[in-house]
Amino acid sequence: MRTVLITGTSAGFGLVAAVELAKRGWRVIATMRNLERKGALEAALAQAGAAHSVDVIQLDVTDAASITRGVADTLAITGGFLDAVVHNAGVAAGGAFEDIPDAELRRVMETNFFGVMALTRALLPTFRKQRSGRIVIISSESAFNGQPGNSIYVASKWAVEGWAESLAYDVDQFGIGVVLIEPGPYITDIWQASPRIAPSGSVYRRWSENVFRAGDAHVAAKGRDPQEVAVKIANVLEARRPRFRNPVHRLAHFTHFARGKIPSRWLRRFVETYLGLRRVRL
Ligand SMILES: NC(=O)c1ccc[n+]([C@@H]2O[C@H](COP(=O)([O-])OP(=O)(O)OC[C@H]3O[C@@H](n4cnc5c(N)ncnc54)[C@H](OP(=O)(O)O)[C@@H]3O)[C@@H](O)[C@H]2O)c1
Repeated sequence: MRTVLITGTSAGFGLVAAVELAKRGWRVIATMRNLERKGALEAALAQAGAAHSVDVIQLDVTDAASITRGVADTLAITGGFLDAVVHNAGVAAGGAFEDIPDAELRRVMETNFFGVMALTRALLPTFRKQRSGRIVIISSESAFNGQPGNSIYVASKWAVEGWAESLAYDVDQFGIGVVLIEPGPYITDIWQASPRIAPSGSVYRRWSENVFRAGDAHVAAKGRDPQEVAVKIANVLEARRPRFRNPVHRLAHFTHFARGKIPSRWLRRFVETYLGLRRVRL
């Protein structure tokens, strides 16, 4: 039975990916930082008749002790072997850069970037010893181009992609593969769960509020079913030689194509016009 550890399975892509992989016969170690939130996953697994293939364990990607314990628990369940990890846990914080407190900047980087590196470091000895392993990272189309009101999230995804593309050189010699999944907008909790920072008195307040409004309208119009991403994750895990980059969603394919081909200034004009931001200036 193939084995996979997934982070952030209490909701969103992580939850549906755990169910999809369990249905396909994988042994899934579904991790989450707060086990009190496991109800939705358990209900989805029960409905799919796949609960017997899944172990739910605690793992907070920003907590070193939790990572050590989570990896030890995982290897105890799988008998010391692991085929793959899916780095899915992620957070965001919206607003103009100048308004975002340092603690928020660090929280996003700790989760989306340092968390991915820390868990990878904890798993590499196992992957190297078995001379196999697949490291799948849920990045984003935000890794392709800058976005208004989303600078720290975009930075975290650019960072993780640069690191992943370089890591692939190190680990290829041990039979370990690195793969990015880059979704466009999907309907999950992340949009409402992320803080929107536009303090009263900020010179950016009107602009930021307009960005939030436009962003919500964009997701409502273009957001798709996260199950598409779950299927992509499972396909990438099961492919013999998956591509390194995997945009998912029509818009992600477009922004991937646009990167480096359309001058930044033109792209910015296009995005500002599309979101209606050019009407609201300070
Ligand atoms: N939704 C989209 O349109 C979209 C598009 C592109 C990329 N993504 C990426 O997809 C991934 C999943 O996002 P989603 O949309 O499914 O969001 P979501 O529904 O908000 O789920 C995020 C998951 O990450 C978990 N998490 C947050 N901090 C964590 C930590 N420190 N340790 C462990 N787990 C943690 C959350 O756990 P709690 O329940 O405890 O908060 C939750 O299970 C993220 O990396 C995100 O950047 C999303």
